[in-house]
Amino acid sequence: MKESLPTTAELMDEYVLGNYGRFPIAFSRGEGSYLWSEEGRRYLDFSSGVAVCALGHSPAVMQAALREQSAKLIHCSNLYQVREQAELARFLVEMVMAAPGKVFFCNSGAEANDGLIKLARKRASDRFGAAAGKNEIITCYQSFHGRTLGGIAATGQPKVKLGFNPLLPGFFHVPFNDVAALREAVTEKTCAILFEPVQGEGGIHAATPEYFAAAAALREEFDLLLLFDEVQCGAGRSGDWCGWRTVLEGSGVEVEPDAVSWAKGLGGGFPIGAFWVGEAHAGALGPGSHGSTFGGTPLACAVALAVLDGIASGGVLENVKRQSARIRAGAAKWSFPVVEELRGVGLMLGFVLDPAEMDKVAGFAESGKTPSLFVVDAAREAGLLTVPAGEKVVRWLPPLNVSDEEVDEALALFEGVLATLSVNQ
Ligand SMILES: Cc1ncc(COP(=O)(O)O)c(C=O)c1O
Repeated sequence: MKESLPTTAELMDEYVLGNYGRFPIAFSRGEGSYLWSEEGRRYLDFSSGVAVCALGHSPAVMQAALREQSAKLIHCSNLYQVREQAELARFLVEMVMAAPGKVFFCNSGAEANDGLIKLARKRASDRFGAAAGKNEIITCYQSFHGRTLGGIAATGQPKVKLGFNPLLPGFFHVPFNDVAALREAVTEKTCAILFEPVQGEGGIHAATPEYFAAAAALREEFDLLLLFDEVQCGAGRSGDWCGWRTVLEGSGVEVEPDAVSWAKGLGGGFPIGAFWVGEAHAGALGPGSHGSTFGGTPLACAVALAVLDGIASGGVLENVKRQSARIRAGAAKWSFPVVEELRGVGLMLGFVLDPAEMDKVAGFAESGKTPSLFVVDAAREAGLLTVPAGEKVVRWLPPLNVSDEEVDEALALFEGVLATLSVNQ
């Protein structure tokens, strides 16, 4: 008898660490906004690898950059000058930040945030002396800053820290958007305030203009750094290169950070992370102070530059705003009791579910799932990939170049799912 080959799920189960709760599906091909499972089923992907595939799956500009750069030079140590790093840094400084500064390259969002933490501590130590103990960092509850020891210490969610004591000391969490709590928490020992201009994993919450203004005022009063984690909301996802500029648009508040971290969409699917630090503080990380073997390889930088060029030259930022409005207009026509609200910026949107209404949905209570997971599973079965954010938010993170037709298809699929849930109540 012929032995059947193990499935991908069986192989994963046997050989790959079980640290992720994975959906029971494996993809073998992607093109634009679509993914194909190993069984050949097509899915409309409004998760984009969790805000990574900025130009969709396997876009031609990334393929070309990978081909051309890999034929020239893939890796080069940071012992040497790296042209592609310099070109990408110039783009980030001039086009994205439009503010003088310097860029450090790494490989992920958590690493980029670790860099911000080191920058803030080093800058305070240089300026005030190590004995001053100015090394504390304020972050927010529900934040997510990554899975390194620095990242979990910074993250304001107990679940990422469980079992990993002792944690990196010096982190204090405050309720997001609570100006009084922020003022109360900052002391002479605070070297930085770090937050996501739009919290992603925490459920798609934008910081309020008042919060930005309060943080900026505390920066002046306490001589600390204001750090933005734009790993998820940056690199164009908000409809502007910078998430905080989208959030502050029209508010009358103007705040610029001292340093910003990126990853995810920056490489469009090729691993790369980075942070920018304004000119005033760039000197804190001099030779020998920080580094990464793989940070800023010629290949990673050439691909990321092709992605950013693709966003800049293809009218993609305008498309983000247009499609965001199209989704909102489409969803505004629905009235499903399970959906409380649609919130977010650009193509970082969250459908907020009403847990009390979800309790009435047939099969929900017995499923043991959170409301968001229940709806994400139902959407996937209907052919639409979305992502849970916390227990009650379903995230839509389509590619930034998603088309009208694809948005309409997603709206129709999701409406069908919500209608089925409502009928089954
Ligand atoms: C805001 C934010 N910061 C940091 C991270 C960590 O990024 P990475 O998984 O690339 O380390 C994430 C990942 O979801 C994120 O959303």
